[in-house]
Amino acid sequence: MLIKARLMVRSAALVAIIAYAATAQAPASLKDAYRGDLTIGAAINAAQITGQDSRGDAIVEEQFASISPENVLKWERIHPQAETYDFTLADQYVAFGQKHHMFTVGHCLVWHNQVPDWVFHDDKGNLVDRETLLKRMHDHIQTVVGRYKGRIQSWDVVNEALNEDGTLRQSLWMKIIGEDYIAKAFQYAHEADPQAQLTYNDYSLEVPAKRAGALALIAKLKAEGVPVTSVGLQGHDSLTWPSVEDEDATISAFAKLGVKVAITELDIDLMPRATRQQTADVSLSIRQDAKLNPYVDGLPESEQQQLAKRYADLFAVYLKHRGDVTRVTFWGVTDGDSWLNNWPIRGRTSYPLLFDRSGQPKPAFQAVVRASSTGTTSN
Ligand code: G3I
Repeated sequence: MLIKARLMVRSAALVAIIAYAATAQAPASLKDAYRGDLTIGAAINAAQITGQDSRGDAIVEEQFASISPENVLKWERIHPQAETYDFTLADQYVAFGQKHHMFTVGHCLVWHNQVPDWVFHDDKGNLVDRETLLKRMHDHIQTVVGRYKGRIQSWDVVNEALNEDGTLRQSLWMKIIGEDYIAKAFQYAHEADPQAQLTYNDYSLEVPAKRAGALALIAKLKAEGVPVTSVGLQGHDSLTWPSVEDEDATISAFAKLGVKVAITELDIDLMPRATRQQTADVSLSIRQDAKLNPYVDGLPESEQQQLAKRYADLFAVYLKHRGDVTRVTFWGVTDGDSWLNNWPIRGRTSYPLLFDRSGQPKPAFQAVVRASSTGTTSN
């Protein structure tokens, strides 16, 4: 009897030790797994900023060391009319970052989307002249960057200025001001907060033509002494694009120019392709079609595993470039939050992130954590 009792105590102790060893080895979170190598972040939405989504907030606080504002700092939200700024949600966003000591990102200052018409037009509806638009851009940047000076550590200053072929997009910024609107935006942001990191942010920079255009743009800005400190590779990826080799080459090419690289909007789209173009252009809209929404009842295990492997492979590339790559930010917290549920087709059930619709970590989460200790491509 006594021997049996002793054996039971011993085996209970052994189980406890094994359990302790397992927890001691496993990093508690994404941010801990990559601490010292990469700052891991997530874009947060209004429900998370205001505390309405307490489950989402718990994940953000536990897992991430950085936040980006998915929408609340866009021009139309904070500066809807010439004389009207609304910082209600933006202030709460920045307070969230400060409260949790997070690296807080500003997104975005100059973009061709989500900018109200008044910015480009006069009272009669005509396009304004270069000086007027430069002044409006200056005042907006001065006011917004100035307000959060020292509290937002990195700004996406110019967003998506390039076409897919690498030429400059003919946005109203470009048409009215000319191509130096980009340099001006960076100068104004630097004046407003000389300590802030300043990013040129775009999607599909792994596509050779667009990458070449971006490299030429950054090289020119650097040669002119424009204070651009980093390039944001948005990272709206799929299971097959970009290849690991393209990602690797893209990061190397920008790093060679002397700028840091941030992965700013990472997600991996598992939905069937609805367009032939490799794009994240928000203006694209395609009709609903059940064939293009195959996983309404859940993601098959084989797809879960492919997503996990894909994430591990990409993180191995980012880690290889630690030092040059500073930050990896997911574009959303859980699958249910993702913009990919509504783009380019509304109402799809998408699975692009590390946490599922009920906030549970997916196999992809474990794979990303594991990749932090191997630093090599998974098999
Ligand atoms: O908040 C309103 C809501 O009140 C309204 O009822 C509803 C009706 O459509 O719209 C809601 O706003 C939507 C908003 O997302 C919040 O869900 C806008 O219509 C919709 O256009 C907006 O889309 C955002 C998109 O940028 C355009 O700003 C996505 O959430 C956001 O993920 C996406 O993020 C962009 C980056 O800023 C730049 N890079 C590409 C990336 C993905 O497109």
